[in-house]
Amino acid sequence: MPSIYILFGTVEGQTARIADYIADVVREHGFQARTADLKSFGNALPDECDGVIVGASVHMGKHEGYVTDFVRANKAALERLPSALFSVSLAVHGDEANAEDYVEKFEQETGWRPAHVGLFGGALPYTQYGFFKRHMMKKIVSSKGSPDTDMSRDYVYTEWDGVRRFAEDFLAGRFAAPD
Ligand SMILES: Cc1cc2nc3c(=O)[nH]c(=O)nc-3n(C[C@H](O)[C@H](O)[C@H](O)COP(=O)(O)O)c2cc1C
Repeated sequence: MPSIYILFGTVEGQTARIADYIADVVREHGFQARTADLKSFGNALPDECDGVIVGASVHMGKHEGYVTDFVRANKAALERLPSALFSVSLAVHGDEANAEDYVEKFEQETGWRPAHVGLFGGALPYTQYGFFKRHMMKKIVSSKGSPDTDMSRDYVYTEWDGVRRFAEDFLAGRFAAPD
């Protein structure tokens, strides 16, 4: 049975939640799925890996550096195996062109141009941020004209149906359904 690795970078946890959701969809379709945080995974791709989905989130205009490092180190394998990328940012929610620019920059930095790319809205977990981050994010969000400035609650912009479609399209184009 094909084994799909969903490898991600995250700072506040939303990309990990999206990776878990993708893994559930992959398993529903009868495949094996493993998720791992690239911060502690190292740069070696296991031999039994039949497909890779890489996820990363955007902070200050960039994806996690250790995800960029992993992709650079495994570019040949990512080009050989069925592979996909998803990028998580607030820009996806209302500033799509910017979200695409983050991915373009990532592709230029790594040299990897994945055939399958997903852009997903992230989250604004005010209640989990420390004092400084909470106030900085509120300022940034309100400077963009967003009403989502209530720091006593969290906002989630991830559209889970879109995540499901991304995972299913990836499987459908690349793997025969298991018996
Ligand atoms: C300090 C900080 C900087 C951020 N910078 C950006 C940014 O430059 N562009 C953007 O679209 N989103 C930005 N975001 C929003 C994150 O991409 C969003 O919160 C995402 O859900 C984070 O994913 P993670 O929880 O997996 O780390 C920023 C968030 C924080 C806390």
